[in-house]
Parts: sequence; C-alpha cells; structure tokens
Amino acid sequence: MPEADAAPKERKDFAVKTPQKEIPAFYLRGTEGQDWGLKSRMARIFNPESGRTVMLAFDHGYLYGPTTGLERMDLAIIPLLPYVDVLMCTRGALRQCIPPECGKPVCLRSSGGATILKEMSHEMLSVAVDDAVRLDAAAVTCQVYVGGEKEHETLRNLSQLINEGLRYGIPTLGVTAVGRELARDSRYLGLATRVIAEYGAHFVKTYYCAENFDEVAAGCPIPIVIAGGKKLPELDALKMCHNAVQQGALGVDMGRNIFQADDPVAMVQAVRAVVHGGETPEKALDLYNTLKSEGRKTRKAR
Ligand code: R5P
Repeated sequence: MPEADAAPKERKDFAVKTPQKEIPAFYLRGTEGQDWGLKSRMARIFNPESGRTVMLAFDHGYLYGPTTGLERMDLAIIPLLPYVDVLMCTRGALRQCIPPECGKPVCLRSSGGATILKEMSHEMLSVAVDDAVRLDAAAVTCQVYVGGEKEHETLRNLSQLINEGLRYGIPTLGVTAVGRELARDSRYLGLATRVIAEYGAHFVKTYYCAENFDEVAAGCPIPIVIAGGKKLPELDALKMCHNAVQQGALGVDMGRNIFQADDPVAMVQAVRAVVHGGETPEKALDLYNTLKSEGRKTRKAR
C-alpha cells in the first residue's frame, strides 16, 4: 500500500488565485474539434514549429512492384530516415525493412487490390485497423478516384477507413488518385480535395497544379500535402515544392523525386530546406549540389 502523503498541508501550493491554463487552439486547420489522441498523432506528422511536414512516400511497390530506386528498400530508405518527418509505406515494407527504433511516425498504406497490370482503381481496404494499431500507425491512408469508374467503391473505402480510424484516434490521409482520363487542373483537384475533406478525412494528398493551386488549398478545410509525381529535374521539383507551400500546402508526401534523384540523401535535405526553412528553390539547389559533391568525396575516401 502506498505511503500517505506526509508533507504538512501548509507546504502544498494550489495557486488558487491563478486561473487554470487553457490549452491553446490546435495549430492545424480542421483539427481543433478532434480528440487528444488524434491531435497528438497529427502533431507527430506536422512539425509543431513550422506547421509543415516532409513525408517520404515509398508505397509504390503495392501497385508497381520493384519501382526504380526502390529495388532494395532496405538500402534505399535507411539513409533517408534522419531527414524525413513521416514514412508513408505498406505494412510489408515497414515490417521487413524499417527498424522500429527509428522513431519515425508512419502513415500506413491501407488500400490495395489492384496492380499496374489491371485496372488500378479497383481497390479495397487491405489493412484492418487493429493491425494499424499494432504497427503504431500515426495515420492510415487510401486512394480515392473522384470522377473515376470506381468513384463509389473508393469513397466507400475512404468512409470506412475514417470510421475505423476514429475509433482509435488514428487520422486518415485521403489521396486524390487521378485516372488517366482526368485533367489535373485546379477545377478537378479543388473538387477532389474538397470531397475528401467533407467525408471527414484529416489531411489530403493531391497533385500540385501550376494555375490556381492557392484556390485548391483555400477551398480545402484540412491540411494539404502534395505528391511529387514523375521524376523531374531537381530544380523543377524544388520549384514545385516551393510554389505549393507558398500557396497553402503544408508540405509534401514525395517519392520518386527523392528516391530517384542522383543523390537522394542530398535531395531530401534540399526539399526539407524549402518546406521547413522557406528556402528558395535556387538556394535549395545549391544545397543539393554541395551535399551531393560532399557525399561523392566521402564515398571516394572510403
Ligand atoms: C501511389 O503509388 C502512391 O500513393 C505514391 O505514394 C504517390 O504517388 C507519391 O509518390 P510520388 O511522389 O512518387 O508521386
């Protein structure tokens, strides 16, 4: 039995004249009304100081098999870990290739059911929420094909994932997957991101569009992160990141433009400088080139 508190009553200080300190409003749009656990997970995803995030997407294998740059996830991803805020991947990649002691929050790919060899939008939920809990997921995610042939099914997947995640305080990232037949313009992306937000997702991943991306971001009441898409020259990729965050995105969830770069470790640091440091694309490219040549020297010296 614990000992009774033996300190004399006069030594206790309840600061009775000081009003209870209220917790300040949560720093992320659209999250204020959520429970503590969900906010805590969102705070692991979006850096509380910058309010932004650099997520590393390497879930491509669930659709494309061994994607260029990810042939060996154990070799490709581990060197990037110190520079990313969140890992977006499948449960297979996580269990086989990522050391749990890395301490990085995980946004768990929870949809599947199709590959590049068939109709890619033909998805179902492939991970039960209790496995997401076992994997200590900070968030779960699925694709949504707004306007596509599987619009109804993928919106149903999104609803189910949100409902199940909410039972455990796990936020859902809705991904706007754009079928080949649809234009990635602000009209479409504005519609798709808004639909996902209204279903109750907690953040959304979409593509950047050169025209009126600020309107896409303004019309979406939850945080937006951008996908990188196909590999671009490094400066173009950094410009895209810069423009997106200047126009209202709260970060990136980027894959190929990092792991397919000539020097992925240098590239992720350049992306970080833009997203968290507000660096210009040109300065970030200088950083990339410096880190790349330093990396070469170190590798040669070994
Ligand atoms: C689809 O395969 C995934 O959601 C990817 O994670 C996503 O497209 C982001 O990767 P990237 O920056 O390579 O487009």
